Amino acid sequence: MTTLTPLAPPKTEFDGSEEDLLANFEAKIAANEKIEPTDWMPELYRKQVIRMVQNHGNSEIVGALPEREWIAHAPTFKRKLALTAKVQDEVGHAQLLYSVVETLGKPRETIIQELLDGTAKYSNVFNYPPETWADVGVIAWLIDAAAIVRQLLLREGSYGPYSRALQRICYEESFHLKHGYDICVTLALGTKQQKDMLQDALNRWWEPIMGFFGPSDRSSIHTEVLMRWKIKMKSNDAIRQEFLEQYVPKIYELGLTLPDPELRKDEETGKWLYTEPDWEELKRVIQGGGPCNAERIGLRRMAHEDGEWVRRALDAASRSETIPLQ
Ligand SMILES: [Fe+2]
Ligand SMILES: [Fe+2]
Repeated sequence: MTTLTPLAPPKTEFDGSEEDLLANFEAKIAANEKIEPTDWMPELYRKQVIRMVQNHGNSEIVGALPEREWIAHAPTFKRKLALTAKVQDEVGHAQLLYSVVETLGKPRETIIQELLDGTAKYSNVFNYPPETWADVGVIAWLIDAAAIVRQLLLREGSYGPYSRALQRICYEESFHLKHGYDICVTLALGTKQQKDMLQDALNRWWEPIMGFFGPSDRSSIHTEVLMRWKIKMKSNDAIRQEFLEQYVPKIYELGLTLPDPELRKDEETGKWLYTEPDWEELKRVIQGGGPCNAERIGLRRMAHEDGEWVRRALDAASRSETIPLQ
């Protein structure tokens, strides 16, 4: 397949010392200017942006898989159309995000290979099975909501190409959320069986959703420098709090309950109290031990092998070996 030539290593803007370059870089960020691919940047910044955006892109691809399973079983034609469009959007998000990673010099072939050989990370939440149609509603409403809360913050981050990609992604994610909310409202107002199905889905997905924001701040590494460089805009715990503040009332509004007996808002501090997700379980799932890790990556591998002829054809076209249609 045609390999895109990675960009040359970031150029320096002036021939200053390493400290001058760093001071200039930090001043730009403090002034809310964007860092562009050809600007000088510390190696740690480049690595961390690659890590974060690659992880995000992988999550879009793998996240489309559990929902994709349900396209054939959607209860109505309109639901099927909406779900198909959502899955298509998510894969498009991965395309955009992989292009962002490429601006930092990491080729797409390597990104894809790392996903296929199981060394790349993606969001833990997609390693759980969607058991019923209600799961499709909960995923599209609350997991997309969790993603939006995080990505609206990241949109203000310092790396120009990521920030611009997120403007479009967030716009599309907000449609996904409405589609998911509509499924949940329909079930919540439906028969007892539909309402029970929704409650059961919420019970099973709640802990993975809480874990979506990542480990508690106590165990997050690099947070301080990542926040100073506006790679990360808020800590994991702060983003989790924002999600709870915005969405717990909406969940209760639908007459649903949440499976955490500790969950409540402390009126004095204004903070939500909750049972910490099982971080050992989260680690185990991230490292490949979740219920669906092998299945998800297996399906990706199969799709990659099935697409081999397309890559070969594209490569042949780029080598001018094909006769163009007249
Ligand atoms: Fe997405
Ligand atoms: Fe989405």
